[in-house]
Amino acid sequence: MNIIEIISKKRDKKRLSKEEIEYFIKGYTKGEITDYQAAALVMAIYINGMDYEEIKDLTLAMANSGETLDLSDISKTIIDKHSSGGVGDKITLIVMPIIASFGIPVAKMSGRGLGITGGTIDKLESIPGYRTDISLEEFKNNIKEIGISLIGQTKDLAPADKKIYALRDTIACTDNIPLIASSIMSKKIAAGANKLVLEVTCGSGAFMKNQEEAEELSTLMKKIGELAGIETVCVITNMDEPIGKAVGNSLEIEEAVQALKGKMQEDVKQVVLTIASYILKLAGYGNDLEENKRKVLEKIQSGEAYEKFTQLVEKQYGDVEYLNNIKKAKYIVPVRNEKSGYITKLNAEQIGKASLELGAGRMKKEDEIDHTVGIILEKKIGSKVDAGETIAYIHSNKENIDEVKQKILSAYKIDAEKPEEYKHILNII
Ligand code: URA
Repeated sequence: MNIIEIISKKRDKKRLSKEEIEYFIKGYTKGEITDYQAAALVMAIYINGMDYEEIKDLTLAMANSGETLDLSDISKTIIDKHSSGGVGDKITLIVMPIIASFGIPVAKMSGRGLGITGGTIDKLESIPGYRTDISLEEFKNNIKEIGISLIGQTKDLAPADKKIYALRDTIACTDNIPLIASSIMSKKIAAGANKLVLEVTCGSGAFMKNQEEAEELSTLMKKIGELAGIETVCVITNMDEPIGKAVGNSLEIEEAVQALKGKMQEDVKQVVLTIASYILKLAGYGNDLEENKRKVLEKIQSGEAYEKFTQLVEKQYGDVEYLNNIKKAKYIVPVRNEKSGYITKLNAEQIGKASLELGAGRMKKEDEIDHTVGIILEKKIGSKVDAGETIAYIHSNKENIDEVKQKILSAYKIDAEKPEEYKHILNII
C-alpha cells in the first residue's frame, strides 16, 4: 500500500478500505505523508465524497491518532458541546460555564477559526495569558477541581484532526460533510465525554448552506456518536445572519462576558437556552425543557455562570481582570446605511469575509490573527432603520477600510416591507 495508490483510488471515485484510511491517517500524523499528498487526498474526498463506512473509519482513525481520554473516574456523565462553525458564534463560551455552574463536568476541545467561521480557541487566546495548550493531565485536573476545561486540539488528542483541519482551511476544503463529521466527531471521541450536544449551523455563514444538508450532517454525526457510546443531540441553528452583535475574537469575548452577566441578545439567548436545556436533559437534570431554561436563567442571574467563567480563565492562566477592560482596536468606524426601511437580509458570509479582511481570521495556515479587530452589528434582520443611521461599527487597526465598509453595506438588504420572523432554531435531531 502507498499514498499515491490511495490518492488515485479516491481521485477515480473508488471507496477506500479501513486499512487504507488508517494508513493515511497514521502516515500523515507522523509526518511521513507530505502536506501536498494529504492536500491531494483531502481534495479528492471533497470532490468525490465518502460513504458511511468510510466516514466512520476516517473518524475512528482520526480519534485513535493520539490518546483517547478516559474520564470515567471523574463522573458517570461528562458533557461536551460543539458547533459546526459560524460567524459570531460565541455560544460555546456562554453555554459551557453555565453548565459547569450546575456541577456538571464539562470537558471541551475546541478548534481555531476555519474559513470565514471563527474558532473558540482563537477567541479564548485573545484573553492575555489564557492557555489552550495545557497538558492532558492539567485538562483532567481542571475538570476535577473546577468542573470545566476548554482546550484546543493537541498533539496528544486527535492530532490528525489538528493537521487536517489546518490544511483544509488553506485549500478550500472546509464545507464538506465527510470532512466536517470526521473532524468534529474524532475530537469528541478522543476527549472522553459521553453526552454531546452539537450545534449544527445552517445558512450563508455556515458550511451547510441549507437545512437539508445540515440535517444530513446531523444524522451522520449522531450515528457515529452513538456507535462510539456518546449520547448525541443535534440542534440545527440558523446562521443566515451572524449570531449576536459581535464578530471578531475579543469582541466576541466581550459579548460572551456580557451575556454571562445577564445582558444577552435575543438570538443568542434563544440558542443558549435551547442548547443548555438539552444538555441538562442529557445530564439527567430534568426532561422538561422549559423548566430547564428557567434553571439556566437562574444560574445567570445569580452570577454563578459568570463566576465559573472567571474560574476557568484563571485556572488556564488567563488574566481575569482583562475581562473588565477588553482591549480595543485603534479605529472604531461607523457604517451608515443609505436608505430607510426594514433589514430583510444580513448575509453572514459577507460579514465573515469582511472580518477576515480586517485580520480576525487566517488566509494562510501561518497567519497571525489580530484579536482586537472585527465588526459590531448594531442592526439585524427585522430592524427598522432610517437613511444615514449607523448599522454597524468596524473595529480595525488599519486606516484604509473602504473595501470592508462596502462588504458590510452589501451584506445588508433593506426593503420597505417588514420581513417574516427570523427563526433561530430550525430543527432538533
Ligand atoms: N468544527 C470542527 O471541529 N471541524 C470542522 O470541520 C468544522 C467545524
